[in-house]
Amino acid sequence: MKMEIKCNFRQELETERLYLKNWQTSFAKDMYNNWATDKEVVKFLSWEPHKNIEETMQIISMWIAEANYNWCIVEKSTNQAIGSINVVRKSDRDFWCEVGYCSSKKVWNRGYMTEALKAVINFLFSEGYYKVQLLHAKENIASGRVMQKAGMTFQGESKAASYVRGKFHDCNVYYALNPNIKLDKNNIVK
Ligand SMILES: CC(C)(COP(=O)(O)OP(=O)(O)OC[C@H]1O[C@@H](n2cnc3c(N)ncnc32)[C@H](O)[C@@H]1OP(=O)(O)O)[C@@H](O)C(=O)NCCC(=O)NCCS
Repeated sequence: MKMEIKCNFRQELETERLYLKNWQTSFAKDMYNNWATDKEVVKFLSWEPHKNIEETMQIISMWIAEANYNWCIVEKSTNQAIGSINVVRKSDRDFWCEVGYCSSKKVWNRGYMTEALKAVINFLFSEGYYKVQLLHAKENIASGRVMQKAGMTFQGESKAASYVRGKFHDCNVYYALNPNIKLDKNNIVK
C-alpha cells in the first residue's frame, strides 16, 4: 500500500447537527461573542482571551492563509459559529497528527465536540494519517471524556506536556489508529 498524505486542507465536513466549515472572516463576530473572550474556555489553552474583535479577525485571517486542517464548527439549528477544531501538530513523515478543539460554553455537554471529533478523525484517516492523537491536561476532565466517547484509546500520561500561563500541566494522551491501513506482525504496511 502506498502511504501518502493528501493535504485536502479545504475539505468541509458535515455531521448530524454540525457543519465543519472553512474559516471565513464573517465568522469573527460569532467567535468573539461565543467563545474567544471567555476565560473559562481558555483555562487549559495556551492563548489569552481576545481583547477586541480586530484580534479575532486577525487570527481568522491567519488561519485562512495557512495550509492546515482547521474548521469552524457551525451549529446547524442556529447557523451560529460555536467553536473550532484543527490539527495542532503533525509529522507527515511519520503519518501522525494531533487535534485540538474548543467551543462556546453555551453549547457544552450536548455531545457536539464528540460528534465533531469523530468526523475529523475519520477524515484525517481518509487523508492518509495512520495515527491521530489528542492530549488533555489531567484536570480537564470534559476534554478527556470527549476523547473516550470518540472511541480513542488511552496511551498514557505525558509529564509537563502543556505550559499554560506560567504553569506546567501533566497531560493524558489518547490515540486512534487508522483501521484501513493494515500492518503485518512487524508493523510493516501490507
Ligand atoms: C472540552 C470541550 C471541547 C468539550 O466540548 P463538549 O461539546 O461539551 O463535549 P461533549 O458534550 O461531546 O462531551 C463532554 C463530556 O464531558 C463531561 N463533563 C463536562 N464537564 C465535566 C466535569 N467537570 N467532570 C466530569 N465530566 C464532565 C460531560 O458530561 C460529557 O460527557 P457525557 O456525555 O459522558 O456526559 C469544551 O468543554 C471546551 O471547549 N472546553 C474549553 C476548551 C478546551 O478545554 N479544549 C480542550 C483542550 S485539550
